[in-house]
Amino acid sequence: MTQELLAIAGRHLYPNYRQPPVVLARGRGLEVWDTEGRRYLDFAAGVAVCAVGHAHPAYVAAVSEQVARLGHVSNYFYNEPNLRLAGELCRRTGMDRALFCNSGAEANEALLKLARRHFFATGQPDRVRFVAFDGSFHGRTMGALALTGQAKYQAGFGPGVGGVTHVAYGDLGAVRAAMGTDVAAILVEPVLGEGGVVPAPPGFLAGLRALADEHGALLLADEIQTGVGRTGRFLGHEHDGVQVDALSLAKGLGGGFPVGAMLCREALAGALPPGTHGSTYGGNALASAAALAVLSILDAEGLLANAEAQGEALSRGLAALAAKLPERVELERGRGLLRALVLRGTPDLRGISGRLRERGLLVTVAGDRALRFTPPLVVSGAQVEEALSVVEAVLSEG
Ligand SMILES: Cc1ncc(COP(=O)(O)O)c(C=O)c1O
Repeated sequence: MTQELLAIAGRHLYPNYRQPPVVLARGRGLEVWDTEGRRYLDFAAGVAVCAVGHAHPAYVAAVSEQVARLGHVSNYFYNEPNLRLAGELCRRTGMDRALFCNSGAEANEALLKLARRHFFATGQPDRVRFVAFDGSFHGRTMGALALTGQAKYQAGFGPGVGGVTHVAYGDLGAVRAAMGTDVAAILVEPVLGEGGVVPAPPGFLAGLRALADEHGALLLADEIQTGVGRTGRFLGHEHDGVQVDALSLAKGLGGGFPVGAMLCREALAGALPPGTHGSTYGGNALASAAALAVLSILDAEGLLANAEAQGEALSRGLAALAAKLPERVELERGRGLLRALVLRGTPDLRGISGRLRERGLLVTVAGDRALRFTPPLVVSGAQVEEALSVVEAVLSEG
């Protein structure tokens, strides 16, 4: 069967990815199995998505129950799971309003449209510029792509959406120099995710808050990779003790079901009146039930605390590995269960992650030199140990 499936992939799947010749078939917790019956420990979690692991019984029950009851009605009508989800997310984030969509890029599009239209609606139509950061990643749609601070993602897609100034991540002086009366918002990841898992330097987000306030601009957080407990707090920027004006969520929120959200303060509730923005699927009952199940499992199983504790264990183990193999590994970094091992030189990240996979460990890569570890938040200490031993074995091979 595997060969038949791979033949379909070779012939019919649009070749915009480089998957290895493996077809994953089922999962349970941290483990997944392919169509040949091989077992893998999943420290990729579908790129930081499967917050409660694979096939969590409570998640399966909630999604199954909802799809059997009511899946989709569109935003012509309310549905109960979506209203409950809006309330839950606002309660957990201190925000007032939630707008739902289906992916991270769309959540960021909502942030960008919110910011521009807020100033349009409040008599400052010239405030249209965004300040964003080198090394950032905000998604692949044209707006989110314009904010993404990595030229490799933009090459060949011009002309892009204009009105974006990129500055060095962590450099408050550069942000200050970029500010002006035409700036609508600063958009920041609390930890650069795709850019190599780089946590914001201490004081950086607080400095951005101050600069945004000083210049009458909004501060927006892209919490798509860092949100929903991944860093050990519900939101990544909680570590920095700042409050933002609006933020985007996706990835972990649906636990594998595609769902995104833009959350904002009441002061921005008038920016997108009826007819200005929307999505057919956004906030559908099935997606909302999936997200509600993720939130309730986070609480029931203490997964924020687990993310913090296992994040520390993973960090210690990766740091020990860096100390043991200094010629291969430069350092480890990250926050909670969003961690990276930064390799020296110009490592063959694809080759290394392939060898990890052959030994039964799934990881992703970030930037040019980082192996990225984003296990489900249900990861155990024994599973962290297992992953570390596979990484050590592969990196010791030379
Ligand atoms: C910080 C950040 N923003 C936005 C996105 C885009 O999300 P999606 O792929 O769901 O559109 C990603 C995806 O990796 C991300 O890490």
